[in-house]
Amino acid sequence: MSADQVRKAVVPAAGLGTRFLPATKATPKEMLPVVDKPAIQYVVEEAVAAGIDDVLFITGRSKRPLEDHFDRNLELEEVLRAKKDDHRLALVGESTDLARIHYVRQGDPLGLGHAVLCAQHHVGNEPFAVLLGDDLIDPRDPVLPRMIEVRNRFGGSVLCLMQVPRANIALYGCPAVAVTEDPGVVQVTDVIEKPDPQEAPSDYAVIGRYLLDPAVFEILKRTQPGRGGEIQLTDALRVLATMPAEAGGGVHGVLFTGRRYDTGDRLSYLQSVITLATERDDLGPDLIAWLRQFVADLP
Ligand code: UTP
Repeated sequence: MSADQVRKAVVPAAGLGTRFLPATKATPKEMLPVVDKPAIQYVVEEAVAAGIDDVLFITGRSKRPLEDHFDRNLELEEVLRAKKDDHRLALVGESTDLARIHYVRQGDPLGLGHAVLCAQHHVGNEPFAVLLGDDLIDPRDPVLPRMIEVRNRFGGSVLCLMQVPRANIALYGCPAVAVTEDPGVVQVTDVIEKPDPQEAPSDYAVIGRYLLDPAVFEILKRTQPGRGGEIQLTDALRVLATMPAEAGGGVHGVLFTGRRYDTGDRLSYLQSVITLATERDDLGPDLIAWLRQFVADLP
Protein backbone atom coordinates (compact mmCIF):
# COMPACT_ATOMS: atom_id res chain seq x y z
CA MET A 1 0.00 0.00 0.00
CA SER A 2 1.58 3.31 -1.04
CA ALA A 3 1.70 6.03 1.61
CA ASP A 4 -0.87 8.71 0.89
CA GLN A 5 -0.16 12.07 2.31
CA VAL A 6 -3.20 13.56 4.01
CA ARG A 7 -3.18 17.23 3.08
CA LYS A 8 -6.72 18.36 3.67
CA ALA A 9 -8.96 18.57 6.70
CA VAL A 10 -12.70 19.20 6.74
CA VAL A 11 -14.18 20.80 9.84
CA PRO A 12 -17.99 20.70 9.91
CA ALA A 13 -19.28 23.67 11.89
CA ALA A 14 -22.79 24.12 10.57
CA GLY A 15 -24.71 22.34 13.34
CA LEU A 16 -27.38 24.22 15.24
CA GLY A 17 -25.69 23.76 18.61
CA THR A 18 -29.05 23.58 20.36
CA ARG A 19 -27.56 22.11 23.54
CA PHE A 20 -25.74 25.38 24.10
CA LEU A 21 -28.46 27.94 23.54
CA PRO A 22 -28.64 30.87 23.96
CA ALA A 23 -24.82 31.18 23.61
CA THR A 24 -25.03 29.62 20.15
CA LYS A 25 -27.90 31.75 18.85
CA ALA A 26 -25.61 33.94 16.72
CA THR A 27 -22.23 32.23 17.25
CA PRO A 28 -21.21 28.71 16.21
CA LYS A 29 -20.54 26.53 19.25
CA GLU A 30 -17.08 25.90 17.82
CA MET A 31 -16.26 29.54 18.68
CA LEU A 32 -16.91 29.14 22.40
CA PRO A 33 -13.67 29.93 24.25
CA VAL A 34 -11.83 27.15 26.04
CA VAL A 35 -9.84 29.24 28.53
CA ASP A 36 -8.81 32.02 26.12
CA LYS A 37 -8.92 30.36 22.69
CA PRO A 38 -11.98 29.33 20.65
CA ALA A 39 -12.43 25.54 20.64
CA ILE A 40 -12.03 25.53 16.86
CA GLN A 41 -8.51 26.96 17.03
CA TYR A 42 -7.30 23.98 19.07
CA VAL A 43 -8.77 21.76 16.37
CA VAL A 44 -7.07 23.57 13.49
CA GLU A 45 -3.78 23.54 15.43
CA GLU A 46 -4.16 19.77 15.84
CA ALA A 47 -4.63 19.31 12.09
CA VAL A 48 -1.61 21.49 11.31
CA ALA A 49 0.53 19.58 13.83
CA ALA A 50 -0.32 16.41 11.84
CA GLY A 51 1.06 17.95 8.63
CA ILE A 52 -2.25 19.18 7.19
CA ASP A 53 -2.07 22.66 5.68
CA ASP A 54 -5.47 23.02 4.01
CA VAL A 55 -8.60 23.33 6.13
CA LEU A 56 -12.15 23.55 4.82
CA PHE A 57 -14.86 24.74 7.20
CA ILE A 58 -18.42 23.70 6.49
CA THR A 59 -20.33 26.65 7.85
CA GLY A 60 -23.95 27.48 8.54
CA ARG A 61 -25.97 30.55 9.10
CA SER A 62 -23.62 32.23 11.60
CA LYS A 63 -20.25 31.89 9.92
CA ARG A 64 -19.04 35.48 10.42
CA PRO A 65 -17.30 34.98 13.81
CA LEU A 66 -15.43 31.97 12.40
CA GLU A 67 -14.28 33.80 9.29
CA ASP A 68 -13.25 36.84 11.30
CA HIS A 69 -11.28 34.75 13.75
CA PHE A 70 -9.11 33.19 11.04
CA ASP A 71 -8.78 36.46 9.12
CA ARG A 72 -6.56 39.41 9.97
CA ASN A 73 -7.77 42.18 12.26
CA LEU A 74 -5.79 45.17 10.98
CA GLU A 75 -7.25 47.68 13.42
CA LEU A 76 -6.39 45.56 16.45
CA GLU A 77 -2.92 44.82 15.06
CA GLU A 78 -2.32 48.55 14.58
CA VAL A 79 -3.31 49.39 18.14
CA LEU A 80 -1.13 46.64 19.64
CA ARG A 81 1.81 47.58 17.43
CA ALA A 82 1.53 51.21 18.53
CA LYS A 83 1.59 50.01 22.15
CA LYS A 84 4.56 47.76 21.36
CA ASP A 85 2.56 44.89 22.87
CA ASP A 86 4.35 42.15 20.91
CA HIS A 87 2.97 39.36 23.04
CA ARG A 88 -0.67 40.14 22.28
CA LEU A 89 0.18 41.00 18.68
CA ALA A 90 1.52 37.47 18.28
CA LEU A 91 -1.67 36.05 19.82
CA VAL A 92 -3.80 37.96 17.30
CA GLY A 93 -1.69 36.64 14.40
CA GLU A 94 -1.65 32.99 15.56
CA SER A 95 -4.94 31.94 14.01
CA THR A 96 -4.39 33.86 10.77
CA ASP A 97 -1.13 32.21 9.84
CA LEU A 98 -2.01 28.63 10.77
CA ALA A 99 -3.15 27.15 7.45
CA ARG A 100 -4.90 27.85 4.18
CA ILE A 101 -8.51 28.17 5.28
CA HIS A 102 -11.53 27.76 3.00
CA TYR A 103 -15.26 27.89 3.57
CA VAL A 104 -18.27 26.13 2.08
CA ARG A 105 -21.78 26.90 3.14
CA GLN A 106 -24.03 23.97 4.03
CA GLY A 107 -27.32 25.81 3.61
CA ASP A 108 -29.66 23.53 5.50
CA PRO A 109 -28.09 21.57 8.36
CA LEU A 110 -29.19 18.19 7.01
CA GLY A 111 -26.75 16.22 9.14
CA LEU A 112 -23.04 15.46 9.56
CA GLY A 113 -23.03 13.18 6.49
CA HIS A 114 -24.47 15.97 4.39
CA ALA A 115 -21.90 18.43 5.81
CA VAL A 116 -19.07 16.08 4.74
CA LEU A 117 -20.62 15.70 1.28
CA CYS A 118 -20.44 19.50 0.89
CA ALA A 119 -16.62 19.07 0.92
CA GLN A 120 -16.49 16.84 -2.18
CA HIS A 121 -15.61 19.51 -4.70
CA HIS A 122 -12.80 20.92 -2.55
CA VAL A 123 -11.36 17.57 -1.46
CA GLY A 124 -11.48 15.78 -4.82
CA ASN A 125 -10.11 12.27 -5.01
CA GLU A 126 -7.75 12.07 -2.05
CA PRO A 127 -8.01 10.81 1.52
CA PHE A 128 -8.94 13.55 3.98
CA ALA A 129 -9.39 14.11 7.69
CA VAL A 130 -12.63 15.22 9.33
CA LEU A 131 -12.33 16.94 12.69
CA LEU A 132 -15.38 17.90 14.73
CA GLY A 133 -14.91 21.24 16.42
CA ASP A 134 -16.58 20.22 19.66
CA ASP A 135 -14.26 17.28 20.28
CA LEU A 136 -11.13 18.64 21.84
CA ILE A 137 -8.15 16.28 21.88
CA ASP A 138 -5.43 17.29 24.29
CA PRO A 139 -2.44 18.51 22.22
CA ARG A 140 -0.23 16.25 24.38
CA ASP A 141 -2.07 13.16 23.08
CA PRO A 142 -2.14 13.56 19.29
CA VAL A 143 -4.11 10.85 17.46
CA LEU A 144 -4.16 12.00 13.81
CA PRO A 145 -0.57 10.90 13.03
CA ARG A 146 -1.45 7.41 14.32
CA MET A 147 -4.63 7.38 12.19
CA ILE A 148 -2.60 8.34 9.10
CA GLU A 149 -0.18 5.48 9.87
CA VAL A 150 -3.10 3.04 10.08
CA ARG A 151 -4.53 4.26 6.77
CA ASN A 152 -1.13 3.77 5.13
CA ARG A 153 -0.97 0.23 6.48
CA PHE A 154 -4.54 -0.99 5.98
CA GLY A 155 -5.98 1.44 3.40
CA GLY A 156 -9.64 2.48 3.50
CA SER A 157 -10.95 4.74 6.25
CA VAL A 158 -9.93 5.08 9.89
CA LEU A 159 -12.01 6.00 12.95
CA CYS A 160 -10.92 7.13 16.37
CA LEU A 161 -12.47 4.94 19.09
CA MET A 162 -12.63 5.51 22.81
CA GLN A 163 -13.84 3.15 25.48
CA VAL A 164 -16.79 4.64 27.39
CA PRO A 165 -19.05 3.31 30.16
CA ARG A 166 -21.86 1.25 28.59
CA ALA A 167 -24.47 3.60 30.04
CA ASN A 168 -23.04 6.46 27.93
CA ILE A 169 -22.88 4.60 24.63
CA ALA A 170 -26.27 5.96 23.54
CA LEU A 171 -24.61 9.36 23.03
CA TYR A 172 -22.26 8.10 20.31
CA GLY A 173 -21.81 6.03 17.20
CA CYS A 174 -20.76 2.55 18.31
CA PRO A 175 -18.74 0.08 16.17
CA ALA A 176 -18.80 -3.69 15.94
CA VAL A 177 -15.13 -4.64 15.94
CA ALA A 178 -12.76 -7.51 15.19
CA VAL A 179 -9.15 -7.77 16.39
CA THR A 180 -6.16 -7.20 14.12
CA GLU A 181 -2.53 -8.21 14.69
CA ASP A 182 -1.98 -4.72 16.16
CA PRO A 183 -3.46 -4.52 19.71
CA GLY A 184 -4.10 -0.78 19.28
CA VAL A 185 -6.10 -1.19 16.06
CA VAL A 186 -9.40 -2.97 15.37
CA GLN A 187 -11.24 -3.74 12.18
CA VAL A 188 -14.66 -2.08 12.14
CA THR A 189 -17.31 -4.37 10.70
CA ASP A 190 -20.39 -2.22 11.40
CA VAL A 191 -21.37 1.02 13.12
CA ILE A 192 -24.63 1.74 14.94
CA GLU A 193 -25.63 5.34 15.65
CA LYS A 194 -26.55 6.00 19.31
CA PRO A 195 -27.56 2.41 20.22
CA ASP A 196 -29.41 1.41 23.40
CA PRO A 197 -26.71 0.24 25.83
CA GLN A 198 -28.05 -3.35 25.86
CA GLU A 199 -27.90 -3.51 22.05
CA ALA A 200 -24.51 -1.85 21.64
CA PRO A 201 -22.07 -4.08 19.69
CA SER A 202 -19.08 -2.87 21.79
CA ASP A 203 -18.22 -0.34 24.47
CA TYR A 204 -16.28 1.83 22.04
CA ALA A 205 -17.53 5.26 21.04
CA VAL A 206 -16.69 6.85 17.69
CA ILE A 207 -15.24 10.25 18.52
CA GLY A 208 -14.87 13.27 16.28
CA ARG A 209 -11.77 12.41 14.25
CA TYR A 210 -12.10 10.53 10.96
CA LEU A 211 -9.73 9.72 8.14
CA LEU A 212 -11.91 9.07 5.14
CA ASP A 213 -11.34 7.52 1.77
CA PRO A 214 -12.88 9.69 -0.98
CA ALA A 215 -15.13 6.70 -1.82
CA VAL A 216 -17.30 8.05 1.01
CA PHE A 217 -18.67 10.81 -1.23
CA GLU A 218 -20.48 8.56 -3.70
CA ILE A 219 -21.98 6.66 -0.78
CA LEU A 220 -23.14 9.83 0.95
CA LYS A 221 -24.89 10.91 -2.25
CA ARG A 222 -27.02 7.78 -2.03
CA THR A 223 -27.53 7.89 1.75
CA GLN A 224 -31.09 8.58 2.79
CA PRO A 225 -31.88 10.56 5.95
CA GLY A 226 -31.60 8.19 8.93
CA ARG A 227 -31.88 8.72 12.65
CA GLY A 228 -33.30 12.17 13.50
CA GLY A 229 -34.13 12.82 9.82
CA GLU A 230 -30.44 13.65 9.22
CA ILE A 231 -28.04 12.27 6.63
CA GLN A 232 -25.76 10.38 8.99
CA LEU A 233 -22.05 9.89 8.39
CA THR A 234 -22.46 6.66 10.37
CA ASP A 235 -24.71 5.20 7.66
CA ALA A 236 -22.01 5.82 5.04
CA LEU A 237 -19.36 4.28 7.33
CA ARG A 238 -21.45 1.10 7.59
CA VAL A 239 -21.38 0.79 3.80
CA LEU A 240 -17.63 1.50 3.62
CA ALA A 241 -17.03 -1.21 6.25
CA THR A 242 -18.45 -3.89 3.95
CA MET A 243 -17.01 -2.64 0.65
CA PRO A 244 -13.93 -4.25 -0.95
CA ALA A 245 -10.56 -2.55 -0.52
CA GLU A 246 -10.21 -2.05 -4.32
CA ALA A 247 -13.27 0.19 -4.21
CA GLY A 248 -11.92 2.30 -1.31
CA GLY A 249 -13.72 0.21 1.31
CA GLY A 250 -12.55 -1.13 4.66
CA VAL A 251 -12.73 0.67 7.99
CA HIS A 252 -10.32 0.38 10.91
CA GLY A 253 -10.38 1.98 14.33
CA VAL A 254 -7.51 3.39 16.37
CA LEU A 255 -8.08 2.81 20.10
CA PHE A 256 -7.54 6.18 21.69
CA THR A 257 -6.66 6.36 25.37
CA GLY A 258 -5.58 9.99 25.60
CA ARG A 259 -7.26 13.04 27.07
CA ARG A 260 -10.33 14.31 25.24
CA TYR A 261 -12.97 16.90 26.14
CA ASP A 262 -16.48 17.31 24.69
CA THR A 263 -17.03 21.04 24.43
CA GLY A 264 -20.47 20.69 22.79
CA ASP A 265 -22.02 19.59 26.07
CA ARG A 266 -22.37 22.21 28.82
CA LEU A 267 -21.02 20.14 31.71
CA SER A 268 -18.11 18.71 29.71
CA TYR A 269 -17.41 22.18 28.39
CA LEU A 270 -17.08 23.58 31.92
CA GLN A 271 -14.88 20.63 32.87
CA SER A 272 -12.66 21.19 29.83
CA VAL A 273 -12.16 24.88 30.66
CA ILE A 274 -11.28 24.12 34.28
CA THR A 275 -9.03 21.17 33.41
CA LEU A 276 -7.05 23.05 30.77
CA ALA A 277 -6.83 26.21 32.89
CA THR A 278 -5.51 24.32 35.92
CA GLU A 279 -2.76 22.85 33.73
CA ARG A 280 -1.57 26.26 32.51
CA ASP A 281 1.47 27.86 34.08
CA ASP A 282 -0.01 31.36 33.95
CA LEU A 283 -3.42 30.47 35.45
CA GLY A 284 -3.14 27.08 37.10
CA PRO A 285 -1.59 27.87 40.52
CA ASP A 286 -4.04 30.71 41.31
CA LEU A 287 -7.04 28.82 39.94
CA ILE A 288 -6.21 25.65 41.91
CA ALA A 289 -5.80 27.64 45.13
CA TRP A 290 -9.16 29.32 44.51
CA LEU A 291 -10.86 26.01 43.58
CA ARG A 292 -9.67 24.36 46.81
CA GLN A 293 -11.11 27.20 48.84
CA PHE A 294 -14.30 27.28 46.78
CA VAL A 295 -14.92 23.56 47.31
CA ALA A 296 -14.08 23.78 51.01
CA ASP A 297 -16.64 26.57 51.40
CA LEU A 298 -19.43 24.68 49.62
CA PRO A 299 -22.34 23.95 51.95
P1 UTP B 1 -24.00 17.56 16.63
O1 UTP B 1 -24.60 16.23 16.54
O2 UTP B 1 -23.22 17.88 17.87
O3 UTP B 1 -25.16 18.62 16.38
O4 UTP B 1 -23.06 17.77 15.37
P2 UTP B 1 -25.26 20.17 16.60
O5 UTP B 1 -26.43 20.65 15.87
O6 UTP B 1 -23.97 20.88 16.23
O7 UTP B 1 -25.41 20.37 18.18
P3 UTP B 1 -26.68 20.16 19.14
O8 UTP B 1 -26.80 18.68 19.36
O9 UTP B 1 -27.88 20.77 18.50
O10 UTP B 1 -26.27 20.91 20.39
C1 UTP B 1 -21.78 17.15 15.25
C2 UTP B 1 -20.89 18.01 14.39
O11 UTP B 1 -21.41 18.07 13.06
C3 UTP B 1 -21.62 19.41 12.64
C4 UTP B 1 -21.72 20.21 13.92
O12 UTP B 1 -21.32 21.55 13.72
C5 UTP B 1 -20.78 19.45 14.85
O13 UTP B 1 -19.43 19.81 14.66
N1 UTP B 1 -22.86 19.42 11.82
C6 UTP B 1 -23.95 18.75 12.22
C7 UTP B 1 -22.84 20.10 10.62
O14 UTP B 1 -21.84 20.74 10.23
N2 UTP B 1 -23.99 20.10 9.86
C8 UTP B 1 -25.11 19.43 10.25
O15 UTP B 1 -26.10 19.46 9.50
C9 UTP B 1 -25.08 18.75 11.46
